[in-house]
Amino acid sequence: MTLCLSTLSRGMRLSCSTSTSPISQVTAFSSKVFSPKGFTKGQYSAGIYHFSSTTTLNQDKMQARKFVITKHFQGLPKLSDFNLVEETLPALQDGEILCKAEWLTVDPYMRAASDRLKVGDQMPGGQVARVLKSRCADFPEGTQVVANFGWRDLTVMKVPPAEKRGFDSIHAMPEMKGLPDSYALGCLGMPGNTAYFGLTRICEPKAGETLVVSSAAGAVGSLVGQIGKIYGCKVIGYAGTDDKIEWLKSLGFDHALNYKTTELPKTLKEHATKGVDCYFDNVRRTSLMRICVLHWH
Ligand SMILES: NC(=O)c1ccc[n+]([C@@H]2O[C@H](COP(=O)([O-])OP(=O)(O)OC[C@H]3O[C@@H](n4cnc5c(N)ncnc54)[C@H](OP(=O)(O)O)[C@@H]3O)[C@@H](O)[C@H]2O)c1
Repeated sequence: MTLCLSTLSRGMRLSCSTSTSPISQVTAFSSKVFSPKGFTKGQYSAGIYHFSSTTTLNQDKMQARKFVITKHFQGLPKLSDFNLVEETLPALQDGEILCKAEWLTVDPYMRAASDRLKVGDQMPGGQVARVLKSRCADFPEGTQVVANFGWRDLTVMKVPPAEKRGFDSIHAMPEMKGLPDSYALGCLGMPGNTAYFGLTRICEPKAGETLVVSSAAGAVGSLVGQIGKIYGCKVIGYAGTDDKIEWLKSLGFDHALNYKTTELPKTLKEHATKGVDCYFDNVRRTSLMRICVLHWH
């Protein structure tokens, strides 16, 4: 869930994309630690995986494969916290479609979501998928869709009526104009929308203003900083490792700082010389938030 705190007094604006989980539960799913067999990590930093399924279709008995949780995570998720199981799919009924996953996401919010799962439940998540069989006129065979199917290869879905399709239901892929399909789950998907609308509608940045971003190398934060540059802001990003800092600099951030090895109040004072106009919080980093408030422009 995105929480946006509306405009503060004296033109100071703050946007907070932190989920409802406490900061201690936001630790990312690291693609280095968790790289399931059958998946190749996509280009995008959030953890978008290309699904290279070898499943063959047999109309009588279709077997889907899905990742279920076997243990609630302690620290970083491990492969042993998951199991890959088979599920027999039902025959297709009127109004239903059979889809095959092409891209899956692994996002930080899944940690909070997984707390509500029981052992044996399937992991949630967005997919770019292809309709293989259809008995629904809205999504004929071959249509590429974006849907919330979770970590699985084949899915049978009863398509809801158009007026009941929420943002996390199912949508036909827009024309990507040559951009990679995986972007529909990344910079043009939920993280991109969170970044774009949080920044432009809540912070309303203006040229020359100073924007501070926490967790700046994350899926949302890295886009917030880049959009901030397009709007003509001075962008200061905080992240937790030196390689992230180098990457943020290569993206055009004016200042990128490792909050673990630098002093927050000192660095902010040094770089936000005219004060802070917008703070985009991604990790409920209250210490940085407090310091930004002290430096509000
Ligand atoms: N992705 C989406 O589509 C989406 C949509 C709506 C809302 N949100 C929310 O927006 C926020 C950012 O999302 P994201 O997907 O871009 O995640 P993200 O920033 O990639 O989140 C992971 C990063 O958060 C920082 N972090 C993790 N645990 C922490 C802890 N205990 N203390 C401090 N920092 C910690 C780490 O970066 P550093 O240590 O380098 O800072 C870590 O790499 C999240 O709160 C998410 O729930 C995301």
